Amino acid sequence: MYRTHTCGELRKLHIGKVVTLSGWVKAKRDKGYLVFIDLRDRYGVTQLAFNRNNNSGLTDQAVQLGREYVVQATGKVIERSSVNPDLPTGDIEILVSELNVLNRSKTPPFTLDDETDGGEELRMRYRYLDLRRDKMRKNLEIRHRLAIEARKYLDDIHFLEVETPYLIKSTPEGARDFVVPSRMNPGQFYALPQSPQTFKQLLMVSGFDRYYQIVKCFRDEDLRADRQPEFTQLDCEMAFADQEDILQTFEGLARHLFKTLLNHDVPEFRRMTYDDAMRLYGSDKPDLRFGMPIADLKEAVSGAGFKVFDAAELVAGICVTGASGLSRKEIDQLISWVKRPQIGANGIVYCKCNADGTFKSSVDKFYDQNALKKWAEACDAQPGDLILVMAGELHKTRKQMGELRLEVADRQGWRDPQQFACLWVVDFPLLEWNDDHQRWHAMHHPFTSPKTEDIAFMDTDPGKVRANAYDMVINGAEIGGGSIRIHDKEMQHRMLKLLGFSASQAEEQFGFLMNAFEYGAPPHGGAAFGFDRWVAIFAGQYDIKDFIAFPKNNAGRDVMIDAPAFIDQEQRDELFPDNKAPATTPPHP
Ligand code: AMO
Repeated sequence: MYRTHTCGELRKLHIGKVVTLSGWVKAKRDKGYLVFIDLRDRYGVTQLAFNRNNNSGLTDQAVQLGREYVVQATGKVIERSSVNPDLPTGDIEILVSELNVLNRSKTPPFTLDDETDGGEELRMRYRYLDLRRDKMRKNLEIRHRLAIEARKYLDDIHFLEVETPYLIKSTPEGARDFVVPSRMNPGQFYALPQSPQTFKQLLMVSGFDRYYQIVKCFRDEDLRADRQPEFTQLDCEMAFADQEDILQTFEGLARHLFKTLLNHDVPEFRRMTYDDAMRLYGSDKPDLRFGMPIADLKEAVSGAGFKVFDAAELVAGICVTGASGLSRKEIDQLISWVKRPQIGANGIVYCKCNADGTFKSSVDKFYDQNALKKWAEACDAQPGDLILVMAGELHKTRKQMGELRLEVADRQGWRDPQQFACLWVVDFPLLEWNDDHQRWHAMHHPFTSPKTEDIAFMDTDPGKVRANAYDMVINGAEIGGGSIRIHDKEMQHRMLKLLGFSASQAEEQFGFLMNAFEYGAPPHGGAAFGFDRWVAIFAGQYDIKDFIAFPKNNAGRDVMIDAPAFIDQEQRDELFPDNKAPATTPPHP
């Protein structure tokens, strides 16, 4: 038997027992006649003690142990002379009488503590060591708990977990597909699913009624902290459900997860239309842990002869509560920040609302105290606050303001990771115009239904059509999104036509779905949640890499196994026997 207990288990009540533990050498302290080893496993750390007076041979053996050696130790549980209150096992230690080295270890290339000295590249290369760190282990434990609790909640309300295939035909969701050549069908490719969207809809046609799946999805897109090329969705679909049913069901899921994982009671989710989110927060995923809505200052600033404002389509301001004391240097830093190409603004005009009720702006030449008072009123600013203003084209300025709002909140420490602000953003536009392709794109995906009252605009003013689509947003992150689907062949045809598909292209790509709609498709809708993002948010973090056991780096590489990689000539010849460029399908419109 390798062990009688784990390294996190022993307490005072075990004193006097003879036990056997197995684990990794975390640290060693050589005090001459006393040697201590911290033995670590998944469950915790237990101190092993060796006393030269008791057994000098064994103590010499302990001195020889290196970091991360795998050892088995047998001994008596004794009370510690100096208790370690930071360790759950800190009341006891094992006076070792038998020691077995199960395996040796090279010295790890970085320290395996919470605050490691290893950079990201090194940690990724030696991910198996990185995962030995407490912090990383806890991250995967949260992930596991989230999956268990999500399954419990969904199972309780009759959702059925059904697996859908990974080797499919491309589903257009906005990103590029990863493709897999088919040996048995030379020149042809499978695509890895960007999501199981069409399959879950077909399951509704089959009558499964309530489906879910914790499923890998694949998207060949530019990577960021919250995006991986393969990531996990908690994917759900319901038949005979309207938007309200769906929002209630998944708000319930969120509430269950917050309660069981964090013992956190979430108040009812706020609801905000897409239009309001863009207008007030410059983002379709507003972080509502703090206020600072964007105020329209156009009227308040017009006509003072300040050309920048007079010429601008939008003059927008945010009020930073209690920040009138910001130094010139701090404001200059913000100005440089918005001028970075990623934000692309021209600068910031500011107005300090002094404690004595007077104002001091960077454009005093144009605006007197009375004029600045109007700014303050428009922004709801009080003495002691700071108003930051940007001007320009409507959509661009809103977005820039939204970014500035987040940056200011970061600098002010207002984005507390232990606090949660959840909301539904609803009434997304059905379509967005793509300048590069000179055509409409589906904002969510082509299976999303238009609002009944907006259907008439599909032919006359497509940009005006709102969709039955919604996103779940937590702390400024898009955690999930979904829609009520089209379940009618004619409407699906009409939608695809609007997206630029010819009748034959529509038939070729989605014929299977539209045929299914002819065999009793129930009204249905659903949502999918970014499982990795959700876990990260629960842990108060943003970078999803730390919540995936073996993630890719930002260049889409797995640096540990060194993938992607070239394949053998033999394998290549088998896949492309004619050794010619693989056949292409007609381009997507
Ligand atoms: P959508 O494309 O909005 O919807 O994806 C759903 C959620 O998945 C997460 N997500 C990602 N997470 C990590 N890395 C990525 N590259 C990545 N891309 C998306 C986000 C997002 O909200 N089939 C539809 C859902 C539906 O309509 O039911 C879909 O996939 O958190």
